[in-house]
Amino acid sequence: MDSNQIQNIKNQAISQILDVKTEKELEELRVEYLGRKGQITNLLKEIPKIKPEKRAKFGKLLNDVKKAVEEAIENKKFEIRNSKSETEEFFDVTIPGEKPPLGHLHLITYTIREITKIFEKIGFTRVRYPEVEWDWYPFEGLNMPKNHPARDEWETFFVEGLKHPKCGVGVLTPHTSSGQLREMEAHKPPIRMLNIAKCYRRQSDASHAPMFYQFEGLVIDRGINVCHLKGILDYFVVQYFGPERKTRIRPFHFQFTEPSFEVDVTCIVCGGKGKLPNGERCKVCKEGWMELGGAGMVHPVVLKNGGIDPKKYTGFAWGWGVERLFMMKYGIDDIRLLFSGDLRFLEQF
Ligand code: DAH
Repeated sequence: MDSNQIQNIKNQAISQILDVKTEKELEELRVEYLGRKGQITNLLKEIPKIKPEKRAKFGKLLNDVKKAVEEAIENKKFEIRNSKSETEEFFDVTIPGEKPPLGHLHLITYTIREITKIFEKIGFTRVRYPEVEWDWYPFEGLNMPKNHPARDEWETFFVEGLKHPKCGVGVLTPHTSSGQLREMEAHKPPIRMLNIAKCYRRQSDASHAPMFYQFEGLVIDRGINVCHLKGILDYFVVQYFGPERKTRIRPFHFQFTEPSFEVDVTCIVCGGKGKLPNGERCKVCKEGWMELGGAGMVHPVVLKNGGIDPKKYTGFAWGWGVERLFMMKYGIDDIRLLFSGDLRFLEQF
């Protein structure tokens, strides 16, 4: 062994170390030179065999070489690790995570809750009655005997094979008015009922869906008159649509109320003027008014059918569409949007 040989090993080791790209390759070099059977380790093992007069010189040289190679390996390791963190994307663990997109209640659920709150504030109780009903409740008991032409208005789904000996055939509730008789059977006056439920009719176009919601109010007590009806309607409209809205009642006909009315609200688009600011006729309403739905004083026959004495008690009722109410508030012209699940529509609310 001479010092040149030792220098050569050192130069070779260092130049190889400088060339490596990965920590794995670096480790392989460390083993090759400094491992248990590494080239430098083997030379160090030779030291005791060297003649005493040369031993110190070679010992020092070999130890310097070992140190230099170790240092080169350490420097290279540091370099590899640093260059890694530059290329890898910086990840700050303290940044708050991304929230997953949150949905919201179905617009109809939301509207039902809103309606319920408004009426609960003035003492109404929300109730639920069967969705599959006997003919008596939506028709016969509401003063619409079999074959009465008024029944045609409610394009009814009949349920095959269902027949009650007294109450007639099975139907899907075509309106929430069926809840009036159910309520009278279940409770004695005073009654303040709010029946919000699904209704079914054979109809489908931009303003009608085969399944839709209505909310039916029923108030029965001594001395109830049309002024109470108008007062409650005004209260509701102002609460739901805002204080600028006005209501009016127009004479109409329903078999189960007398007198009967249609309730109108001033239009959201033209503010009840019937004309737009540019002088054009408003296309959304009829001369400033939008139809909300039916109402009236409960017919004495209906009270009797519900087991209530019409000489002692009077009452009023109304039945309006939930979807229609929502559409009027936001100026939506196609009911099917509410059932489509189209995010472009839903995300606007
Ligand atoms: N049930 C009627 C319909 O579906 C609406 C209605 C009219 C309900 C007058 C009432 C009422 O309670 O008094 O068209």
